[in-house]
Amino acid sequence: MTLEAMKTIYVINGPNLNLLGTRQPEIYGHETLEDIEALCEATCTTQNAKLVFRQSNHEGELVEVIHEARLQASGIVINPAAYTHTSIAIRDALSACDMPIYEVHLSNVHRRESFRHHSYISHVATGVIAGLGSEGYLAAIRHVLG
Ligand code: DQA
Repeated sequence: MTLEAMKTIYVINGPNLNLLGTRQPEIYGHETLEDIEALCEATCTTQNAKLVFRQSNHEGELVEVIHEARLQASGIVINPAAYTHTSIAIRDALSACDMPIYEVHLSNVHRRESFRHHSYISHVATGVIAGLGSEGYLAAIRHVLG
């Protein structure tokens, strides 16, 4: 398959996810973000897709990554982390993307504090996966590529 014919998938991670592995492992597990990236890479490789994997702690930077994905990607998998519950800017950026968008959370946000129950993102997402740990990322990638 030529590079041009390959699907590109953006996996975008929000604030504090760079701390995975050491951050509240009782909630988020022991896998690091690098471990999750390797799993995503393996899933994309088996399906002949190109992975772009990003993390930022800054809202505006995440908006710019989404703008990049808008032009480059066949689909977006995003864990907006805390910005899920606060960011109209990230929601608007995703609204401008005409492609499948999956919102992923490692933890089951619905059995946690009530402020995590509302998502600004779900309304513009094709699907939402919460509570499956890193498996949620892989399921979302499979759906984008399927
Ligand atoms: C999270 C859930 C969010 O509420 C939280 O702010 C995160 C991670 C998750 O993956 O479970 O940082 O998105």
